[in-house]
This record gives sequence, C-alpha cells and structure tokens, in this order.
Amino acid sequence: MFKKIAVFGTGSMGSGIIQTAATNGLQVVAIDNERSSVDRGKKIIEKSLARFEKKGRLKESANEIIGRIEFATDPERASNADFVFEAIFEDIKIKAELYKKINAIVPETVPFASNTSSLSMTALAKASGRSSNFVGMHFFNPVPMMKLVEIIPALQTASKTVEAAKSMAEIMGKTAVVCKDTPGFIVNRILVPYMLEAARVYDAEIASPEQIDTAMKLGAGVPMGPLELMDFTGVDIAYFVGNILYDETKDKKFLPPNVMQKMVQAGWLGRKTGKGFYDYSKKD
Ligand SMILES: NC(=O)c1ccc[n+]([C@@H]2O[C@H](COP(=O)([O-])OP(=O)(O)OC[C@H]3O[C@@H](n4cnc5c(N)ncnc54)[C@H](O)[C@@H]3O)[C@@H](O)[C@H]2O)c1
Repeated sequence: MFKKIAVFGTGSMGSGIIQTAATNGLQVVAIDNERSSVDRGKKIIEKSLARFEKKGRLKESANEIIGRIEFATDPERASNADFVFEAIFEDIKIKAELYKKINAIVPETVPFASNTSSLSMTALAKASGRSSNFVGMHFFNPVPMMKLVEIIPALQTASKTVEAAKSMAEIMGKTAVVCKDTPGFIVNRILVPYMLEAARVYDAEIASPEQIDTAMKLGAGVPMGPLELMDFTGVDIAYFVGNILYDETKDKKFLPPNVMQKMVQAGWLGRKTGKGFYDYSKKD
C-alpha cells in the first residue's frame, strides 16, 4: 500500500492535502516552486495541527506528524513517491509544464491525481503523459475538515487507478464519490448556481445578506448561508469558477451577477480581505 506521497503545490488545497495525508500516517514530500509558498504552507499546517492537538483530536503529537513531512522546492524530491498529488494554479498550461517535469522524475506507472476544480480531466490526462494512471481527486476546502473527495476518472483512466484513488481516499479518512468528467463534477455543479442565485437575490435588493442567509439556514436547514459560505471560501473563487463553468457550458445558471464582478474589482473577497457580503473588520 502507499507509503510516501508527493504533493505539488503548498497553497490552500495542497497544504490541506499534505496535513491530512501526514495525519493519517503517510510520509509526504511537499513541493512548491516558490520558497515563500513552502514557508507559508508549513506555517498553515503547523497552526492547524496545533489547533487539532489542543482539541485532543490527534492520535499522536503534532510534532510527530510534522516530522513525516519534507518541505522542498526541488521537484526531484518526488522521485521515490508512490502516489502524486497536484494542487497548483488552475491553469492548464502551467499544469502541463509541471507534468512534463514530473514525468522525467516519477515513473509513469505511479498514480497521479489532480485536484483541479474546473479543468477537463481528460485534457489533463493527455497532458500528463501517463493517461491511464491519471485521475482527478477533488478535495474540498478546508481539506482537514471536509469529509468528501470526488474521484473523477478521465476518459483514459484505468480502473486500477480509480481503485488506487479510492484506497488513497480511505487512507486519508475521506468518503469518495466517483463522478463522470463533467463541468463542476457533482458539488460545484449544484453549489455554484445556488450561491450565484443568492448573490442575484442580494443584487436585486430582494433581501439583505443576513436575511438571505437566515432564510436558507432556517428554511432549508443548511449549516451556513450561501453568502456567508461565499465569504468563507472567497467571492473571487465563486466568481472565477462560475465564469469557467459558464464558458464551458454556456449555461446562464453559472454566469456570476454583475455585483460579484464589482466586489472582485474592489477586493471585497470575503473573510480573507476583511470584507465581502459582510464586513469582518467589526466581527470576531
Ligand atoms: N481553493 C479551493 O477552494 C479549491 C477547492 C478544490 C480544488 N481546488 C483546486 O486546487 C488547485 C490549487 O488551488 P489552491 O486554491 O490551493 O491554489 P493556491 O493559489 O492557494 O496554491 C497554488 C500553489 O501552487 C504553487 N505552484 C504554482 N506553480 C507551481 C509549480 N509549477 N510547481 C509547484 N508549485 C507551483 C503556487 O506557488 C501556490 O503555492 C487548483 O487546481 C484549484 O482549482 C481549489
């Protein structure tokens, strides 16, 4: 079974994948091409593990878990990995360039999973040069907390690679749902139009953010209202993903309303910038 994985990208998703894998006993080499991103990723992981430790939710010390992670900028460090994750920028050209590099380092038989949210797995599999051993594993933010991983076989993916992805999900303590390579997979296909509709309701001045979120929490039983959720995950992310899904499908349900474009231009991206649909400079 898998012992040592390589994760390319130590940003929001990569650091979550690294932390979750190490927490579940895997050796991890965490690679980013930017030293500052490696350092930031390491800090995020240390902080998050310290929180888990304080809450008594770790089976061993945070230090032991961190000890299983090697942080690096040199892709060569992935050479003896038996499973590779890619969680770098959402750009097929950048991903394809990296895949080429990885191909010269990691044998073609090693399973390779991309965490892409919106790019075609089939196109990425072609770019990977290891088509049958390539698969999508779409995690959710924050990875250590979110239980789901969508497994998306490309047209070329071998069934043994899907099985490898399922085993990896199980090792990482996630529930896997297999889904066809289709824009938005399952969650974003349903969630993005829902969040955008909430922004349209706000834009049309039908109700305030508080009223919209309260209505959905108490009327539909969701734990977080759609605008709170967008502020949490990033208004820019919903805007970006909505536009990509719209470009791919031409389905208007994915087209973000004008107010979101303005919010992105203003830097009102949600919690991470202190303002989104809500103002966080006065909250918590
Ligand atoms: N943010 C989310 O909620 C979310 C959810 C699911 C999937 N995804 C997907 O995960 C991937 C990463 O997203 P993110 O939000 O973590 O992005 P991010 O911008 O936080 O991190 C990306 C990291 O990749 C690094 N990077 C870029 N080019 C590289 C290269 N050639 N080699 C090594 N590292 C490189 C960057 O330095 C950066 O640290 C994307 O494909 C995205 O679609 C994101």
